[in-house]
Amino acid sequence: MSQHYQHDVLVIGSGAAGLTLALTLPAHLRIAVLSKGNLSNGSTYWAQGGVAAVLDDTDTIESHVEDTLNAGGGLCREEAVRFTVEHSREAIQWLIDQGVPFTRDDEHAREDGGFEFHLTREGGHSHRRIIHAADATGAAIFNTLLEQTKQRNNVELLEQRVAVDLITERKLGLEGQRCLGAYVLNRTSGEVDTFSARFVILATGGAAKVYLYTSNPDGACGDGIAMAWRAGCRVGNLEFNQFHPTCLYHPKAKSFLVTEALRGEGALLKLPNGERFMPRFDDRAELAPRDIVARAIDHEMKRLGIDCVFLDISHKPADFVKSHFPTVYERCLDFGIDITQEPIPVVPAAHYTCGGVLVDQNGHTDVPGLYAIGETSFTGLHGANRMASNSLLECFVYARSAATDIVSQLAQVQIPTALPSWDASQVTDSDEDVIIAHNWDELRRFMWDYVGIVRTNKRLQRAEHRVRLLLDEIDEFYSNYKVSRDLIELRNLAQVAELMIRSAMQRHESRGLHYTLDYPQQLAEAKDTILLPPTYGD
Ligand code: FAD
Ligand code: SIN
Repeated sequence: MSQHYQHDVLVIGSGAAGLTLALTLPAHLRIAVLSKGNLSNGSTYWAQGGVAAVLDDTDTIESHVEDTLNAGGGLCREEAVRFTVEHSREAIQWLIDQGVPFTRDDEHAREDGGFEFHLTREGGHSHRRIIHAADATGAAIFNTLLEQTKQRNNVELLEQRVAVDLITERKLGLEGQRCLGAYVLNRTSGEVDTFSARFVILATGGAAKVYLYTSNPDGACGDGIAMAWRAGCRVGNLEFNQFHPTCLYHPKAKSFLVTEALRGEGALLKLPNGERFMPRFDDRAELAPRDIVARAIDHEMKRLGIDCVFLDISHKPADFVKSHFPTVYERCLDFGIDITQEPIPVVPAAHYTCGGVLVDQNGHTDVPGLYAIGETSFTGLHGANRMASNSLLECFVYARSAATDIVSQLAQVQIPTALPSWDASQVTDSDEDVIIAHNWDELRRFMWDYVGIVRTNKRLQRAEHRVRLLLDEIDEFYSNYKVSRDLIELRNLAQVAELMIRSAMQRHESRGLHYTLDYPQQLAEAKDTILLPPTYGD
């Protein structure tokens, strides 16, 4: 039997954004936090480098703003950048207050009264401003926030729950546009339950799984972006897919990132013959923003026909390497690579979705009652290329402002009642799951080949043609068979892929992460790519 649940706030996603929101809301509200797998399923748990913030007295808000604008290739919204950076110190203080065990720098603090935590550097940043917990910052943050959330009696943490679609007044044929809840597959019972809530928050992370090679965990399927689109929200700048320059290249290593902080601490990128190549591409060499480094690696790999390049930190003292990068050291050692002695084979992989669901400073989407926060949202902070470690910061800052906004509206909104149950009367069990597996592979491969680091009109047209065929096939499958996690994710991935391709085709220039051989120049005027859903403004 399917269930009906009622909450004040339904948070879809248990990463940095979702947990921060749940913890920031007042304790008298009944809150549900959903994760489609285990609670640690999202990208947050895997974050390595840290969180960018203005913390040291020698750093300034102006400098962080300027670096972010520079990395963003003329497309950042300055008010979003300023808002985020201005709130960075208080967001970090909040994390410290929650108990996040950031790496300390007691010597520095003692000697000159400086900031007591160690700050590292990453690409595009002109200062040391990345606060971190060695090279496993995401796990430290996630574990702390989860422990805090578990102390809250008002928050229900629900695992193995996959949101299928949002319930809106429009979809129910009622007057108005408000979001009233969501249909959610309970993977344990196999039933689709109905959740009603006064406020619904999409904190579902990014969509990098749309590519064959990615640093992201399996769930990064753009579910929130696709659900918001179907509910009538605009999406923006989905052509800007960030490829992290350095993921471990090893036949048995699935999605292991080698943090940019290695380069911040002096690691060098080299060709197989030991030659450094980044100085040929940018004055900032290994510490240029990610789009430049990833493209340079792609260029060298294609030019020389090589499978990978090498990241070398073996010139640094072994103790320093082991204490700063214990996770990378251990993981590489598992594959027989001792990073204190030899270079690490690396390749770029899809890492971060810069675009997403259009929101304002409080996380409002176009649909009343529906918020989007974290990687699923498009706040304008990242522009055409996200600067390293700005994304976790964005999760904390916008989750906190969304929470404040929700509190300000509580008096005006009641929990919706009597929402209809999910209708499964027309569907049967699938006897052709091979279609799902096949389409997953096909989609991710053509996105990698045709909508990757370097694009052309022809490649995008091919991708567009194929994604349309897949969407038709998936729609038919979805109408006839019971939903499963794989089917829900495939449907969303294909939808988001189509939006990415459409966005890329609309941009007739090369800017930031969008690089096309047909339009290698950057246009004088920087414009966002905003897509309007068919129902927008109805
Ligand atoms: P996530 O942490 O991805 O969480 C998404 C949540 O949504 C999960 O709980 C998932 O189960 C749930 N979910 C998704 N779809 C559904 C659905 N349909 N139904 C129910 N639940 C659903 N950024 C930095 O700033 N600094 C770093 O050092 C850094 N390092 C990184 C390293 C790696 C390997 C990766 C992959 C990313 C890194 N990033 C880093 C990026 C950053 O980690 C992410 O942008 C950020 O963690 C996203 O947080 P989030 O809360 O938006 O989503
Ligand atoms: C990394 O540690 O290199 C990832 C940082 C980020 O994605 O911001």
